[in-house]
Amino acid sequence: MPNFIQNVSPDNAAVGKAAAEEIVALAERTAANTGTFTIALSGGSTPKLAYSLMASEPLVKRMPWKQTKIFFGDERHVKTDSPDSNLRMATEAMLSSAPIPKENVFPISTDGTVEACADKFDKVLRAQFTQPSYGFPVFDLILLGIGPDGHTASLFPGTPAPLEVVKWTTTCDPNSFNPAVKPAVKRITITSPVIWNAKNIFVLATGAEKTPMLAKIFSETEPTDPPVSRLVRKCSGVVTFFLDKAAAGK
Ligand code: 6PG
Repeated sequence: MPNFIQNVSPDNAAVGKAAAEEIVALAERTAANTGTFTIALSGGSTPKLAYSLMASEPLVKRMPWKQTKIFFGDERHVKTDSPDSNLRMATEAMLSSAPIPKENVFPISTDGTVEACADKFDKVLRAQFTQPSYGFPVFDLILLGIGPDGHTASLFPGTPAPLEVVKWTTTCDPNSFNPAVKPAVKRITITSPVIWNAKNIFVLATGAEKTPMLAKIFSETEPTDPPVSRLVRKCSGVVTFFLDKAAAGK
């Protein structure tokens, strides 16, 4: 039985506020207990508001920025100034204004081949997570979104990426299976076991278009066409879904 919590808010703005407040509260507790807080950000559009609220009054003063290490769950294989870059989105929404030491932010490098970038990402994670559990890093929090095709992080359906359960990082070419995926670029991503190993997972999803995928994640019986994001049912930590009423089908 998965350890799921649903936090349903009236609309997208309220989801951003609820998620930002819970991220900061978790960061405060974790940093007070262990001295650090490790978080992997998700890309896409849904988390933008939460990121900007974390870097604004009143949350910006509560967030333990100096004890926080910020990673990325995935990145598009684009230049850092590309409008498709998750680093650029997080920088514009939060990192450019939050008082976080530069050395506490660990972007996924997109210089070189996508394979080389995944290897570099692996080395960065191994340098930071020096006491793996069950052979994988233990993030305090991983943020995830859900794509319209049911992907999460950059583990896209029809590709080998969701099936990688040995490496910490991998690459994904979503358009090799679905030419319609946008942006049509290769990605670098954490793997399923890294997600399964996290202490906490926050899934942010809004809008009615996410309802069908969420229903297939919540279904106790295995759907005939399970979305990749149903992998969160194997998480050892607590999975909190921050949804608006539309996504929750309410
Ligand atoms: C990415 C994200 C991806 C995202 C989903 C949902 O790099 O695109 O990591 O997994 O979370 O596609 O995106 P939205 O929040 O824009 O719906």
